[in-house]
Amino acid sequence: MPHFVQKPLSQPAAQVVPAQAVTLHVNGQDRTIQIAPWTSLLDALREYVGLTGTKKGCDHGQCGACTVLVDGLRINACLALATVYQGRKIETIEGLGTEDNLSPLQQAFIDHDAFQCGYCTPGQLCSAQGLLNEGRAQTEDEVRELLSGNVCRCGAYTNILSAVMEVLHDGQAIVDNGTLTTISATAQ
Ligand code: FES
Repeated sequence: MPHFVQKPLSQPAAQVVPAQAVTLHVNGQDRTIQIAPWTSLLDALREYVGLTGTKKGCDHGQCGACTVLVDGLRINACLALATVYQGRKIETIEGLGTEDNLSPLQQAFIDHDAFQCGYCTPGQLCSAQGLLNEGRAQTEDEVRELLSGNVCRCGAYTNILSAVMEVLHDGQAIVDNGTLTTISATAQ
């Protein structure tokens, strides 16, 4: 005998818990959507707002592909309830820069070839932007540690580190084959 038998609902699920209007402030715009109260911020952004740049990898807070910025700080959108984030400033990869005006990190990722398949890249970029906003990392090891929540299955870590170090030190540091080199001002 099964321990639990699911009884059919006497009425459709939509009538049991009606969708509610939720207004999210995303990339400078208010977006009002109708969602069930348990909808994650990740699903709200992708399925209801239509911003599919934020990726779903594990949906369990383990890969970082869904990283977005809320009031400048990074969170895993798959672990966040959308309704909780009303009134907060949400920034996704679509808000970091434009095709004609890339953010410094986006440009550095291109310059350093910091991706292969690209699936983790939006999360890597948002996480790296959060890292810069936090101002806690200076060294190569600190960047590695504080970006360790973002997994890259292709293993592009060396080039991601290189790109982030360049922006972190405003072009004054490079990582070449895993070795950090600080460029002195007089050498330029
Ligand atoms: Fe959110 Fe993996 S999809 S951490």
